[in-house]
Amino acid sequence: MPMPRVVSVGALVLAGCGGPQSALDPAGRAAERIAEIFWWMTAGGIVIWLAVLALTIYAVHTPPEAHNQRRTNYLIIGGGAVVPTILLTVLLIYGLAPIPTLLAPAPEGSLKIAVLGEQWWWRVRYQPSSGEPVVLANEIRLPVGQPVEFRLESADVIHSFWIPSLGGKIDMIPGHVTRLALTPTKTGVFRGTCAEYCGTSHGLMSFYAVVEEKEAFQRWLAHQQAPALPPRVPIAARGQELFLANGCGACHTIRGTPASGVVAPDLTHVGSRLSLGAGILPNEPDDFLQWIAHTEDLKPGVHMPTFGMLPPEELHALAAYLDGLQ
Ligand code: CUA
Repeated sequence: MPMPRVVSVGALVLAGCGGPQSALDPAGRAAERIAEIFWWMTAGGIVIWLAVLALTIYAVHTPPEAHNQRRTNYLIIGGGAVVPTILLTVLLIYGLAPIPTLLAPAPEGSLKIAVLGEQWWWRVRYQPSSGEPVVLANEIRLPVGQPVEFRLESADVIHSFWIPSLGGKIDMIPGHVTRLALTPTKTGVFRGTCAEYCGTSHGLMSFYAVVEEKEAFQRWLAHQQAPALPPRVPIAARGQELFLANGCGACHTIRGTPASGVVAPDLTHVGSRLSLGAGILPNEPDDFLQWIAHTEDLKPGVHMPTFGMLPPEELHALAAYLDGLQ
């Protein structure tokens, strides 16, 4: 039997409440609080709506002579002013009360991650207690159950940093560091996005936040600290030659090679990331090829020039090299 239309629409609406980028499917302490506020506000709104509906039906069906002036006044003043004022005040206090907790700084000694918003990608930097800093793009990894302090800034215009599954959003402002403390409570892969219109490709500026057990996180961080390994197959070695010969290293860094540009994303371990182009493509050799050959089509306004003029053989070699940077 086909599902009744109302039920199927309801199921669709509810399906929108889940997934890796939903504030209603929380996986962080702040997001849990925000989702709770949302459901209480929604419930409050439904109760008020039902009450207004019931009063309307009552008013329509009651003969006029059943009212006396005094009762009417009570109803108007009570139902029109006193009850809404009380209800809205309660909801307002309930909604504002958690703000100090949501904006509280992370405890002393928490992991710190600097994220710089750029048009239109995210520069992510970890400073481990020993050794090299880790710089990567469009991917953040976090240990589960540990508070993290994000230090957020922008390189150009105002962006807004938001991982809906983990917590609230906060602006990234040029020349000013904003801080956001988040504590992930579940492992998984979540999606973050820019929540402030920042130019042509604002809608193509996402990233992944991977929450994992502490040991896995530390292994990942140590691996990211290491320089890139030399290419292992001839096609990748050819790709590396082309990468350097075409001047890619003027904008991109690949630690362990002469490429040391700082304008564009660090590609030292780009093959190990979950996406390309700030969350817009998966990360397979063919995606590298598509990105290099159709950069401007895939992300209008992007600063990286398109290298579609390279012969297919060279594009394949470049893609093999970059994909091999695990
Ligand atoms: Cu960055 Cu919108």
